[in-house]
Amino acid sequence: MQEKIKNLIHDVEGFIPSTEEQLEEFRLKYLSKKGILSDLFLEMKEASPEQKKDLGKILNELKNKAEEKYASFKESLEGSKLEVATDMDLTLPSSSYLGSRHPISIVRNEIVEIFSRIGFTVSEGPEIEDDWHNFSALNFPEEHPARDMQDTFFIQKDPDIALRTHTSSVQVRVMESSQPPIRTISPGRVFRNEAISARAHCIFHQVEGLCIDEDISFADLKQTLLYFAREMFGEDTKIRLRPSYFPFTEPSAEMDISCTLCGGKGCNICKYTGWTEIMGCGMVDPNVLKNCHINPLIYTGFAFGMGIERITMLKYQINDLRIYFENDIRFLRQFSGMI
Ligand code: DAH
Repeated sequence: MQEKIKNLIHDVEGFIPSTEEQLEEFRLKYLSKKGILSDLFLEMKEASPEQKKDLGKILNELKNKAEEKYASFKESLEGSKLEVATDMDLTLPSSSYLGSRHPISIVRNEIVEIFSRIGFTVSEGPEIEDDWHNFSALNFPEEHPARDMQDTFFIQKDPDIALRTHTSSVQVRVMESSQPPIRTISPGRVFRNEAISARAHCIFHQVEGLCIDEDISFADLKQTLLYFAREMFGEDTKIRLRPSYFPFTEPSAEMDISCTLCGGKGCNICKYTGWTEIMGCGMVDPNVLKNCHINPLIYTGFAFGMGIERITMLKYQINDLRIYFENDIRFLRQFSGMI
């Protein structure tokens, strides 16, 4: 009898049910009133007192093992049955709709790609910035009205810490931590305390560009930006540079491209001028180089900065900035399949 019980223990240990039905068969076989265990306990009564001691021990072992096995599979098999019943309908047709990338990401990736083809790397900086990197190092004098050009969100009333108002702050970080030749672009999110409208938002994205080396001239800036405009908006795109002012560049300019809608003939998008503005740029001010420990007697450089929302609007004829943040699936689906 001992031998028989040992074999049963072995069977119980190796039993792995994969359905609830198999588990129920197991219960009936071992644990029910008419099951093996009841029979064996009855049989044991007929054994001699010495045999009973040993048999009782090993029979209890069989009983415990069978009960444990039953309990350990009961919950998991019932659970899986429940899930199948409520969460899955195998007769439903499968969904063929794939998500799409946000247009801002698509255009940012394209800008990065265009500049990487001519040797620009990508660098990033923090969105919470100090006064030095966002303003002072970039030649914005303290109390100077130029700081009001960019309404700033300050953090916890600390005038030294703010959400960056432009990605030009990354220029400073790159120059502080490396020496020329530098050729980098910095895409990122920026923040300004502005009322939200079709043409302005308090959160938006910019790409900053910076190129520093010996003998870099305004001609290099112009050629680089012409290359960019043609790659982004098509071969026939023309550019023009108008004099402007930024504290961190001298001379400074704003760049227009021939209108992407009418090609320069004049329409309501370009307000019948044939041109639309897409970025600010200029030669890095020697004061900025000095602030970042780069010798302005040896090195010169150019910088530029553009809004990704604006480039995207022109590229895809979008006329309201707010739509970028609304997560309207009908808008976003139009960009599916694009990277
Ligand atoms: N930081 C400027 C802004 O947010 C954009 C800009 C203008 C960046 C001229 C530049 C530049 O690097 O040279 O309005």
